Amino acid sequence: MLELSDVRAGYGRSEVIHGVSLTVPSDGVVAVMGHNGAGKTTLLRATVGLVKTNSGTVRFEGEDITSLRPSARVARGLAYVPQGQQSFGQLTTQENLQVVADGRKNGRALIKEVLDLFPALTSLMNRRAGLLSGGQRQQLAIARALITSPKMLILDEPTEGIQPSVVAEIERTILELTRRGGLGVLLVEQHIGFALESAERYYVLEAGRVTSTGSGGAGADVDIDSVVSDVRAAMTI
Ligand SMILES: Nc1ncnc2c1ncn2[C@@H]1O[C@H](COP(=O)(O)OP(=O)(O)OP(=O)(O)O)[C@@H](O)[C@H]1O
Ligand SMILES: [Mg+2]
Repeated sequence: MLELSDVRAGYGRSEVIHGVSLTVPSDGVVAVMGHNGAGKTTLLRATVGLVKTNSGTVRFEGEDITSLRPSARVARGLAYVPQGQQSFGQLTTQENLQVVADGRKNGRALIKEVLDLFPALTSLMNRRAGLLSGGQRQQLAIARALITSPKMLILDEPTEGIQPSVVAEIERTILELTRRGGLGVLLVEQHIGFALESAERYYVLEAGRVTSTGSGGAGADVDIDSVVSDVRAAMTI
């Protein structure tokens, strides 16, 4: 379980996150939604240690990781896929996967496993990542994160700027992963329908504060249409 308690974070003297608390269980999806500039990316960056936490705590599986370096958090089982489909553009798909798999004892099997999840990458193994489409690059970025065998996958707008058919494929894969169990997902997503359908719980972030939270469609006895309209209402304020 990942737990943020009253986290304040930002850039230099400019505080962007003003006391956010949220919990992501070890299994299932938690969605964070909010307008552009609300602080979603900053919140994720603080969670993985790329932005300094000014106060509050980040705990993972009971351990206070607030002061740990990003690499130490990755070693604990956090994997972060940043916004914008980033990979090594000059390296091929194969090399991008290999870089992460190198040094892991079952590297070859891990690559095979992620290719089973993202079969579209199989025919693109020799293509430079910089030449892939946005959707293909996003699949590669998620595949690279999965090679670290994470316990908690942190995704920043995985479907942003991607054509609908690939969005559906990425969504299907995220749901398949969570159905297998043993993986928590902290998902920042503007695509409200998918985020709410897949999530156990959602949080709406506005100007660095949680302004609304509730059960998502994956929770028990939830009417997804009324949740979607609640969130739309919360987000127009
Ligand atoms: N490196 C930075 N230095 C200073 N301010 C920053 C930096 N990155 C972001 N900010 C500011 O922090 C605020 C929150 O930005 P953030 O990127 O976290 O928002 P977001 O919710 O992820 O937006 P989007 O939906 O557009 O991705 C914005 O006002 C932004 O200008
Ligand atoms: Mg962002």
